[in-house]
Amino acid sequence: MIPFIDVAAQRRRLGGSIDAAIARVLGHCQFILGPEVRAFEAELAAFCGAKHAVSCASGTDALVLVLRAKGIGPGDAVICPSFTFCATAEVAVLVGATPIFVDVDEATFNIDAKAIAPAVATAKKLGLTPKAVIPVDLFGLAADHAAIAAACKPHDLFILDDAAQAFGATFNNRRLGGFGHATTTSFFPAKPLGCYGDGGAVMTDDAEMADILRSLRMHGQGSDRYDNVRIGLASRLDTIQAAILIEKLKIFPDEIVARDRIARRYSEALGDVVTTPAVPAGMSSVWAQYTIRVSGNRRDKFAAALKAEGIPTAIYYPIPLHRQQAYKQYPVGEGGVAVSDRLAGEVISLPMHAYLDEPTQDRIIAAVRSALAA
Ligand SMILES: Cc1ncc(COP(=O)(O)O)c(C=O)c1O
Repeated sequence: MIPFIDVAAQRRRLGGSIDAAIARVLGHCQFILGPEVRAFEAELAAFCGAKHAVSCASGTDALVLVLRAKGIGPGDAVICPSFTFCATAEVAVLVGATPIFVDVDEATFNIDAKAIAPAVATAKKLGLTPKAVIPVDLFGLAADHAAIAAACKPHDLFILDDAAQAFGATFNNRRLGGFGHATTTSFFPAKPLGCYGDGGAVMTDDAEMADILRSLRMHGQGSDRYDNVRIGLASRLDTIQAAILIEKLKIFPDEIVARDRIARRYSEALGDVVTTPAVPAGMSSVWAQYTIRVSGNRRDKFAAALKAEGIPTAIYYPIPLHRQQAYKQYPVGEGGVAVSDRLAGEVISLPMHAYLDEPTQDRIIAAVRSALAA
């Protein structure tokens, strides 16, 4: 079986630089919020053009920290797409708020900005206060941040961009990190910029929020560790992971180019036989996934045919959140979520990583074409 994501190929490329970075941390022993954490945060902020980057223990915690910093909680509604990874809605529930699920755009799989106003109406009918929207830049593609901002403004909604899958992607030639009021990302190993464990970060231009986030990740500390001014969490990016990420960030721009080249090659070779991913003008993707659509009853057979050729596929996401056992009790915004339901039945992702070589990709392309022709 060829790998779906080849973390080991990147490890081979980085080689000794990672070992040396880890050895430096083992030398100074500042495992929590050591110098590499501060250095990495500065590089992260510079990379995406945000004023502040505050790292933490995961992409999920990054979302929780922002919601906590904004004081979002019981009685508040948080609008999010149904077609996403569960963490996007999980964090609303974790802070005591109510997620309201809205639909996504058929072509981009990202939140349909036109669904935001109807969801605000739904929240109000339920006696909830609509407070925030969490757009997701799904599979690496930037959401339509201009349309989202325009839809949120009349309702004074806080925009928390969940860029867990899309750090490095651009909207109108600007990297994600500066759209909305705060942006979060994940360094889970399989993410485009991943570490060797769990990690996450929040990017924001709001200095006051950055200060609150730094306090919250350290048990709500005030002037020092034993001054507790708010209820917080223990959520730091390990110094070892920051040291690894400093090395990985150096090759990340090059990897983004490689991912885009590979994705374009897929689209050129498959565009005549299947629906390939759309990248609207003014947006770019870092291709966390390369996802095609194979209509309902053919998808299982398609996946089995590829598996027989030693080619793995994955379905992100087979069940939209509004149908999940843990989330089906939460409301769906007016207008419904028909596209999310349809996508869940049709999407299938092909192997995608920066080190996918042309002969291997050609094998995948040939297998996809023959499975579709069968
Ligand atoms: C869209 C989305 N949001 C949030 C997360 C949570 O990130 P983490 O796994 O680092 O907690 C993920 C990734 O797993 C994700 O894909």
